[in-house]
Amino acid sequence: MKNIILLGFVLAAFASPAFRLRDSDLVMTQEQIDRINQSQDLWTASSDWVGAMTIGEARQYASAEIIYNHFPEKHWGKLLDHLQVPSAFDARQKWPSCIHPILNQGDCGSCWAFGASEALSDRLCIFSNSTINVVLSPQYLVNCDSVSYGCGGGYAVYAWDFMQSNGIPTQTCTPYAAVNQVCVNKCSNGSTMRYYKAASVSTFSSPASIQAEVLQNGPIEVSFQVYQDFYAYTSGVYKHTNGQFVGNHSVKIIGWGVQGQTNYWIVANSWGATWGMNGFFWIAFGECGIDSNGVAGLPAV
Ligand SMILES: *[C@@H]1O[C@H](CO)[C@@H](O)[C@H](O)[C@H]1NC(C)=O
Ligand SMILES: *[C@@H]1O[C@H](CO)[C@@H](O)[C@H](O)[C@H]1NC(C)=O
Ligand SMILES: *[C@@H]1O[C@H](CO)[C@@H](O)[C@H](O)[C@H]1NC(C)=O
Ligand SMILES: *[C@@H]1O[C@H](CO)[C@@H](O)[C@H](O)[C@H]1NC(C)=O
Repeated sequence: MKNIILLGFVLAAFASPAFRLRDSDLVMTQEQIDRINQSQDLWTASSDWVGAMTIGEARQYASAEIIYNHFPEKHWGKLLDHLQVPSAFDARQKWPSCIHPILNQGDCGSCWAFGASEALSDRLCIFSNSTINVVLSPQYLVNCDSVSYGCGGGYAVYAWDFMQSNGIPTQTCTPYAAVNQVCVNKCSNGSTMRYYKAASVSTFSSPASIQAEVLQNGPIEVSFQVYQDFYAYTSGVYKHTNGQFVGNHSVKIIGWGVQGQTNYWIVANSWGATWGMNGFFWIAFGECGIDSNGVAGLPAV
């Protein structure tokens, strides 16, 4: 009797969706992947990228902190009435030379720095008519933005603060190393550092204001909630289907589209080009908070 009661408790603990994930657990089992594929047809999952990744490893890939209301919200007001928002838009088509390739943060919790440096790189190119076409350095943010925790995680909005007050150099000047380094204000080859800055930073918390901003000024950084199934994403419009919350993650929105009845964002991830759709993913509007805390500034050209 006692054993039966005990077994009941154990089963309840594992069956409950809220059982606590351990660092040694697999992010996704083949059984979970099959269940995702069988239970819906918006998106497909596979083990190609996630493999035998553990929850402990996965947390490194999603270690953004989210805070709200740090910068003024850009509402656009009446301007929205005059803006023709197409049902599909892709910044890679509007500014072909300015949307830079997918990067790879590796085993370092620096997504907050990637979303920020990537959006500013694209915007510098857009606003300079491609005369300043550089990839800015997430490593410099990792090393020097002391409000955040380097590879231990960080804040998208404070990265923009830092890019506004201090500025960041190019990736060639301070190459990516995927580890915390001492903040040095010279390029790795010893040459003088040139800083690229952001100006007039705003936040965006609705699909309409994000669309207006991306259409007018280029890609923005957003943060959202990552669940276990997201690691197994390979194509289609992501909606959380299976697994628990792992961490918050920062990425770069570059456009949107519609599949059937579902509006989705086109997003650049920083998990390398072998993840998802050549490094990109689609996610339904409103899903996992993807459009409730965008941030971006104009480049100070
Ligand atoms: C998941 O589903 C898709 C589409 O049905 C299929 O192409 C793919 O092979 C499936 N993958 C796995 C791992 O079952
Ligand atoms: C870029 O081109 C536009 C249109 O030709 C022009 O109005 C703008 O001044 C140019 N900007 C820069 C920074 O050259
Ligand atoms: C050092 O790096 C900077 C930034 O990438 C570059 O502009 C400069 O030409 C390099 N200097 C030398 C001597 O290689
Ligand atoms: C993730 O973000 C949400 C708000 O968007 C917040 O409530 C939650 O505490 C965050 N979780 C972690 C682990 O940072």
